[in-house]
Amino acid sequence: MTTKRLGIGFNGSGFITRFHIASFIAVRDADIRGIWSPNAGRAAEAAALGNARGVGEAKAFPSIEAMVKDPSIDAIWICGPNHERVANMKAILEALGNGGELQGGGVLNDMMCHSIEAARYLLTEPGKLRESLKAKKVSAQIACMKWQRPAYVEKLKAAYGSDVDYSTKPSEDFARAIVEYEDGNGEPLIVEATTSWSYVGAGLRLSMGLLGPEYSMKVNTLDTELSLFFSHDSGQSSGEDLVEKQNAELGLMPVVTDEGAYGYVDENRHMVQSFLKNLRPEETFDDGVAVTELLMTAYKSAEIDAAVELEGASLDEFVPAVARGV
Ligand SMILES: NC(=O)c1ccc[n+]([C@@H]2O[C@H](COP(=O)([O-])OP(=O)(O)OC[C@H]3O[C@@H](n4cnc5c(N)ncnc54)[C@H](O)[C@@H]3O)[C@@H](O)[C@H]2O)c1
Repeated sequence: MTTKRLGIGFNGSGFITRFHIASFIAVRDADIRGIWSPNAGRAAEAAALGNARGVGEAKAFPSIEAMVKDPSIDAIWICGPNHERVANMKAILEALGNGGELQGGGVLNDMMCHSIEAARYLLTEPGKLRESLKAKKVSAQIACMKWQRPAYVEKLKAAYGSDVDYSTKPSEDFARAIVEYEDGNGEPLIVEATTSWSYVGAGLRLSMGLLGPEYSMKVNTLDTELSLFFSHDSGQSSGEDLVEKQNAELGLMPVVTDEGAYGYVDENRHMVQSFLKNLRPEETFDDGVAVTELLMTAYKSAEIDAAVELEGASLDEFVPAVARGV
């Protein structure tokens, strides 16, 4: 009996790639076999991490094309930076024979994508397609509350180089949006999402509440089952050793014992099984487009300071001010 296994290549070797590699310990029927990133040293490090974790005999590839063409690779996990997404997709398609400037955008784009899709998922009736929700109207607000203050502008430059200059090209670090939907029965549904890059606290704060006619649900990722206390004199050095986006080194801190809690294992298991069974996954490129459409409508609403109806929103030519660098 032969067992079919999915050979995976990673495009990008940074932060998110490392999370995914770690999650494959709990995913069956797949091997991480390749890593490509423009930084060959980091690609080799990520490949070594995969090998050390025993999740595949991974090697660093010299180009995305070489990785895509390698017969041992069946699927690519795209984990490069957002502004290279289109170029990476084109390179992959060209390598398969099917075939800029920074993307811009702040926390509305970077974080609210999660809130919007998590909310679409929670509001879709089980067994129905996501398209059963019809988005009608978006109203949103954005602001730069922290990172364009002079001291933080300098801090960003020191960390990321002069390309990241919030004094001349700020992006929003606060965003809120209300998205109005209609379900298949014509009932109204409302999503309220707020995101921020200004939160300072012990760790990654994701909080969700769902209110229905006869039910409610809540999640807060800082309500962990384990917490640690360090006194003033404990001499901790700063890092993300207890939880992603850890800000605190002293006092009482939550510990996320398994960061798979954010969904990486389930996500990767589902994608591997969908590829192997030749089934359309529950989350597709179309969902990415639908979320992007909602985010762009939110930018438009924030810019004109009014609610925007999805129908006739004329997004094809719309480029948010933050992406135009103005
Ligand atoms: N789902 C989540 O929760 C989550 C969390 C963090 C990041 N992300 C997304 O993951 C992606 C990567 O973010 P990250 O935090 O890992 O960034 P990162 O900067 O840590 O890593 C980016 C990687 O891409 C590589 N790279 C640079 N130029 C490239 C190019 N032209 N083509 C391909 N790769 C290139 C870099 O060498 C690096 O290895 C982004 O789209 C980000 O929005 C998602």
